[in-house]
Amino acid sequence: MDKAISTLIKALMLHVIGMIFEVNAINYCSNHTFPTSLGTNFMQFTKETVTKEYAVDGQFKALHCCAKGYRSIEWLKDGKSYPWSSESTSSLILYPQAANQTIYARRASKTDEGRYTCVLRNDTHKIEHQIVLKVLESSPDVPLATFTPQNQFADIGGSARFFCEAFVGKKDLPDISISIKWYHMSDGNQDDVINDNQQEVVKREEEEIIGSYLTISEVTSSHFGRYLCRVEMGNSQTHRLEMSAELINALPIETNNFIFLNPYLLASCAFVITLIGFFLFLQLRFYYQPRVKKFAGSEAIFFKSQPFTHVDCNYI
Ligand SMILES: *[C@@H]1O[C@H](CO)[C@@H](O)[C@H](O)[C@H]1NC(C)=O
Ligand SMILES: *[C@@H]1O[C@H](CO)[C@@H](O)[C@H](O)[C@H]1NC(C)=O
Ligand SMILES: *[C@@H]1O[C@H](CO)[C@@H](O)[C@H](O)[C@H]1NC(C)=O
Repeated sequence: MDKAISTLIKALMLHVIGMIFEVNAINYCSNHTFPTSLGTNFMQFTKETVTKEYAVDGQFKALHCCAKGYRSIEWLKDGKSYPWSSESTSSLILYPQAANQTIYARRASKTDEGRYTCVLRNDTHKIEHQIVLKVLESSPDVPLATFTPQNQFADIGGSARFFCEAFVGKKDLPDISISIKWYHMSDGNQDDVINDNQQEVVKREEEEIIGSYLTISEVTSSHFGRYLCRVEMGNSQTHRLEMSAELINALPIETNNFIFLNPYLLASCAFVITLIGFFLFLQLRFYYQPRVKKFAGSEAIFFKSQPFTHVDCNYI
């Protein structure tokens, strides 16, 4: 009787945990979508696409392909399309509540490892995204990158958003601190800490995956440069992961720093210098020649005054 009750409680807990995961899975694609995707309907990915995913053997795992504007979405694992012919391909299943943008397994296993592809189609186009899933025996000692930030171009007055994410796994010890933070690298490579209201930490899959959005709502010239995302486990240098990306000025002519690097300006300068050089050359040809003649004349006079005839006579 006791056994039955404990089994029932266990099943109930698993169900509740499953539901919590499912709610998270729904929210994953609806939260933090690109501001640019709002108000548009063409087929596109609606947030940063994670290319590497990790799971610990026996634990929940979900893969996402957040998109909009598609007519159909198809999932493949190592080239085999869903529904997989057998569990030996993968135990991940579609999650229709998320418009099939998510596939998940309550308990991931080693057979789930592989390359997953989601293929989106509208009437004219096809876009796809690949995710490589690795299933680990246990939680890793160092954070593993799941999304590496990408270089970005921005206009002054425009906006920019960087994202970085890492798999940290479950912590055996509750007091192990995990942190993720963005820094702006200045010239001297000194890290400038970024205001907390510009970065937002996000967690998924029971905090096994930790990420951070760095949002610059209005770009000024001081915002350009390299940004570093640092993930640390337990304040240790050896347990940290660093990823970086650059914010690049899309219109370099508008800032003083880059004006001399402008290709049009450089080309114009080169042209003007060539032109000046050509005129100088012409001038030299006109004015230098008579002077040389004059000089040659005086030389001739100079030589004439010398007893060269004597030498000539000797030679003869
Ligand atoms: C994610 O989306 C849900 C539902 O739309 C919302 O309740 C929640 O506050 C959002 N979370 C974040 C961190 O924005
Ligand atoms: C199909 O998707 C492509 C790529 O996103 C888009 O450019 C095109 O406008 C879409 N076509 C239709 C008919 O929605
Ligand atoms: C989700 O997949 C199921 C099964 O393949 C399919 O019947 C359904 O139409 C799909 N839904 C969407 C929104 O693509």
